[in-house]
Amino acid sequence: MKAMAVFPSSRELRLVEHPEPELSGARQVKLRILETGICGTDREIASFAYGMAPGDCAYLILGHEALGEVVEVGGEATSLAPGDLAVLTVRRPCPHEHCVPCIHERQDFCLTGDFTERGIKEAHGYMAEYAVEDERFLVRVPPELRNVAVLTEPLTVAEKAMEQAHVLMSRMPGGDDGSRRRPAVVLGAGPIGLLGAMKLRDCGYETWVYSRDEPDSANFKIVSAMGARFVDAQRHSPGELAEMAGDIGLVYEAAGVAKVSFEVLGELGVNGVFIFSGIPALKAPLEVDSERIMRNMVLKNQAIAGTVNAGHASYKQALTDLASFLRRFPSAVNAMITARVPLEGAREDLLRRGGVKTVVDMV
Ligand code: BGC
Ligand code: ZN
Repeated sequence: MKAMAVFPSSRELRLVEHPEPELSGARQVKLRILETGICGTDREIASFAYGMAPGDCAYLILGHEALGEVVEVGGEATSLAPGDLAVLTVRRPCPHEHCVPCIHERQDFCLTGDFTERGIKEAHGYMAEYAVEDERFLVRVPPELRNVAVLTEPLTVAEKAMEQAHVLMSRMPGGDDGSRRRPAVVLGAGPIGLLGAMKLRDCGYETWVYSRDEPDSANFKIVSAMGARFVDAQRHSPGELAEMAGDIGLVYEAAGVAKVSFEVLGELGVNGVFIFSGIPALKAPLEVDSERIMRNMVLKNQAIAGTVNAGHASYKQALTDLASFLRRFPSAVNAMITARVPLEGAREDLLRRGGVKTVVDMV
């Protein structure tokens, strides 16, 4: 079968002919991949800054955001049947018996670091014609979500972030009910920021998206279409953002830019929660207003958490939420996928960012 692969040692990115995977266990499922999303992580891997090939292979097949159609199931697989649509999760548990999160199928909290990630770390991904996976790592997709379900994986990143935020907000008497009446800020209007903003809107938050995107960009239009407010980070400082938004109770960071993130952290309100999900490139150390941030954190009971990847429940929640987003602000959801390219054309999109979300159309 054809697949898009990166060769980390010879620094190549190209189509390969890879053996078609076959069922080798009774609970396995074979999928024909329909669509695979391209994200910032893929672009980093494609530029050899991240990613690791499986030990026995010179290349890594890219792709971790995929929608497939079931073509074959093992004798003991019960949750899926041929013809079903399914999304695939990314992270696989580490092999250590003492890793409590992995034992509980929460490898997104793996303690050892010996997890694998399909399309990212030591396991082939889904930018290929077929994939085989244990049914535990698949989630069935209702047919009505066919055109948007490829957004499930990036949405799970925001879902887990919101889970973490709500855990932290439930410190408050009355749970998180009070926090929902305060404005929430999303940093970044890339796919994960936009999907996170949709989640916040859907939960009833007054939502402000702070980003460097141009006011005539597709990203800006999506922000308006979901009923969130856009603040142009090229024209307004974090202080001005805070003046406009008011008492910020929650910040969801999805831009991967440290400087602006710490500046906005300095504007967080009393008992506020700040969730980091972006992964910045490593650069020289940065000067931040550390005394102000530390004083605020203490005097205002603030909480910060980082979050990576997501558990199975976040995938189910993401699918439920995508259906809800489609009912509430269909034009915002439908504008997310700005390009569909054939597998042969994916190389160009892996090397250069454009639009909101580019999807490789395998059909
Ligand atoms: C993926 C996550 C993954 C992370 C780190 C992100 O792009 O969405 O599933 O855990 O990269 O590798
Ligand atoms: Zn990703």
